[in-house]
Amino acid sequence: MMNLKDEILKELFDNLNNVKEFEDLEKVKIKFLGKKGIIKNLMEKIKQIEDIEEKKKYGELINLIKEEVEVNLEKFEKEFVKKLKEKKILEEEIDETLPGYPFNFGKRHILRQVEDEIVEIFLRMGFHISEGPEIENEYYNFEALNIPKFHPSRDMWDTFYLHNGLLLRTHTSPVQIRTMEKIKPPLRIISPGRCFRRDPFDASHSPIFHQIEGLMIDKNISLTDLMGIIDLFAKKIFGEKTETKFYISYFPFVEPGLEVAATCSLCKGKGCNVCKYTGYVEILGAGMVHPDVLKNVDIDPEIWQGFAFGLGVERVAMIKYGISDIRYFYENDIRFLNQF
Ligand code: FA5
Repeated sequence: MMNLKDEILKELFDNLNNVKEFEDLEKVKIKFLGKKGIIKNLMEKIKQIEDIEEKKKYGELINLIKEEVEVNLEKFEKEFVKKLKEKKILEEEIDETLPGYPFNFGKRHILRQVEDEIVEIFLRMGFHISEGPEIENEYYNFEALNIPKFHPSRDMWDTFYLHNGLLLRTHTSPVQIRTMEKIKPPLRIISPGRCFRRDPFDASHSPIFHQIEGLMIDKNISLTDLMGIIDLFAKKIFGEKTETKFYISYFPFVEPGLEVAATCSLCKGKGCNVCKYTGYVEILGAGMVHPDVLKNVDIDPEIWQGFAFGLGVERVAMIKYGISDIRYFYENDIRFLNQF
């Protein structure tokens, strides 16, 4: 009777030796342990044995066989699964010498970088940031800045008009008014932000562009303070050897008004196509705040004076990096943007 056990285990091992796929193993399991399997058949035979002692012995043997079949099948399955996994890993082996996929990291746009640099220079000179809305009304964009209705200078600051008398601001100068309404002098602020004009989109103009406004109000402020601060700014942003030139100009909200040019940082003042062979490029408009503007915000011009300036971020970036066309900033060509 002990031979039966050896016989069945031998058959089991023969079957397991031929197992290649997981499905083969399932078939072996069913063959031995299934409802109509070998062990079940052997168990059915117990009923046919009449001798009690023999029945008991046979029953014990079948249980032993069943137990050994189960243990061996379980052991085989564990090892088989492990081998399958190893094989899969080998087949899908990772080649660590292959280059990985490149990650595209975002970065700050060149205009944001230049804006931050300009802001940083003025923060170090004791200025604070004061911001205003991009959607303005005529009072702040024009009237409070000494530009009444039908004043011819409105033409050069023509903009996009919205409903209810609102408009997209043409410059950051309205922030001067909004700030002086809230904060009384002495004050030093800069105001970076977007501006909008009905300008053509050409090499040096964009209908949407960025300005940084500056305003300093105190007692005994003179034109030389303005000139000193702008000259220092130009040296910090374009290099220590930069020189500045101041020309008389006209803005209704300052008196006198100035335009400031700095030595072209590309040709270092020798003359090139960026500076149109003058050696200098215009960087900003500025002037002493007009007494009427101070009166509009209830500041006594007999006690307080100050200067203001407004510079274009795109123009500063163009001069600093020798960029000949403003449209490059807005084309989102990654080859251009990645240079900075
Ligand atoms: C003004 O906007 C005045 N508010 C500046 C000012 C402030 C003067 C305070 C006096 C006191 P202007 O229109 O010149 O001035 O513009 C100032 C700068 O903005 C220009 O020098 C130029 O750098 C930039 N700018 C103007 N229009 C455009 C445009 N369409 N595209 C790109 N940059 C522009």
